[in-house]
Amino acid sequence: MAGNNPIEPEKNLKNEYLKLVTTLKKPLTSHENRLFEQIQTKFSKKGFRLDINTSEIIVYLQAIEFEVFRDYILDLLADLEKNPESSPVDPTLFLKIIEEISRIKSYGIKGGKRWYVTYNDERKVKDRQSKVNRRGLYYYARNTTFSKNNNELPKRYENLIINDDSESVLKQLPDNCIDLVITSPPYNFGLGYDTSSDGVNWELYFNKLFAVLDECIRVVKFGGRIIINIQPLFSDYIPSHHIISHHFMQKKMIWKGEILWEKNNYNCKYCAWGSWKSPSSPYLKYTWEFLEIFAKGDIKKSGKSEDIDITEDEFKRWVVAKWSIAPERKMDHYDHPAMFPEELVTRALKLFSFAGDVVLDPFNGAGTTCVAAKKTQRKFMGIDISKKYCEMAKKRVKEIL
Ligand SMILES: C[S@@+](CC[C@H](N)C(=O)[O-])C[C@H]1O[C@@H](n2cnc3c(N)ncnc32)[C@H](O)[C@@H]1O
Repeated sequence: MAGNNPIEPEKNLKNEYLKLVTTLKKPLTSHENRLFEQIQTKFSKKGFRLDINTSEIIVYLQAIEFEVFRDYILDLLADLEKNPESSPVDPTLFLKIIEEISRIKSYGIKGGKRWYVTYNDERKVKDRQSKVNRRGLYYYARNTTFSKNNNELPKRYENLIINDDSESVLKQLPDNCIDLVITSPPYNFGLGYDTSSDGVNWELYFNKLFAVLDECIRVVKFGGRIIINIQPLFSDYIPSHHIISHHFMQKKMIWKGEILWEKNNYNCKYCAWGSWKSPSSPYLKYTWEFLEIFAKGDIKKSGKSEDIDITEDEFKRWVVAKWSIAPERKMDHYDHPAMFPEELVTRALKLFSFAGDVVLDPFNGAGTTCVAAKKTQRKFMGIDISKKYCEMAKKRVKEIL
């Protein structure tokens, strides 16, 4: 195939083409080869190129009409199915290529084609860095008094789950000793937690929450991160995610970004429309929550390259800040009413921390953070006011080999 559609040496294609490699379990049959040739011929030699050898199919992608491309291949496969005389073809290879291309976010559409590279060149802001500096890079978080001297977490707290009030436990820790805080605090929705009351006056709620979060700011390292999973309470019109973010910014934490956690289920359990079919006061419905991410002192976190454990594919997918992850399905089993799923924490850990880092969850619940941290070779510390939840968390952590 390479001979029929010569591809320039890879170095010439580097910036012009996106390269997708699919490994072959066995060499293609001559019939499969012919089909790929047909696909190559059909689609512009410039926007889409194939290079096939005995062990891999390499797609060089610049710009294609994706829907036309997809339908063309699906039609080819459908024709083959209708014609049992033809030599067998493995459709999964063709489908995999369609799927991989469909997962890539294009830069935009030009001339009817989706562009996967270079399109942005013409839109690039000139002198971006000097413009950023002129506007005032995170101006709300400048001139901090944060110390740059980081400390070790005392060994006695390492991989520990503590049953107590997190504010009082955190007060015992030294400054700057935690790499990453990730937590989902009580939302004040009125859930039936084991020990703590959830559903108090909002001022009381935020006073207590901020007392804990201020301790988190103190104990997190310079360059460390705090990630808060939170859902606003729509029926009270309380934008908790904004209120919390505002608090962090007042404390001179840098807003690193926000991830929309798409749960694909409605948050309100009842059929709330507000003013039915009237603009008087419609009630908006949401199927997602937020992860608000803050950095202390610096948006860059130092770490060794050998401690990076995120793959290229994961990085590409997870920096797109909308994560579709189903809610935790085993809350009954873990006997906790408001858990976040392990996948959510695992992604956050791999994207925002290094293997070997110290991770803290001050509202640890049934220990999902500790489980994800242990499985990804991070150190952990979890605190929860409920003895019952702490016992469950310890059990879950112990079960990991
Ligand atoms: C939303 S849940 C966290 C669930 C956890 N993310 C999980 O996946 O299991 C909030 C937790 O905060 C705990 N909590 C409430 N007030 C606390 C406090 N002052 N100190 C420590 N934990 C507290 C509750 O017991 C509850 O388990």
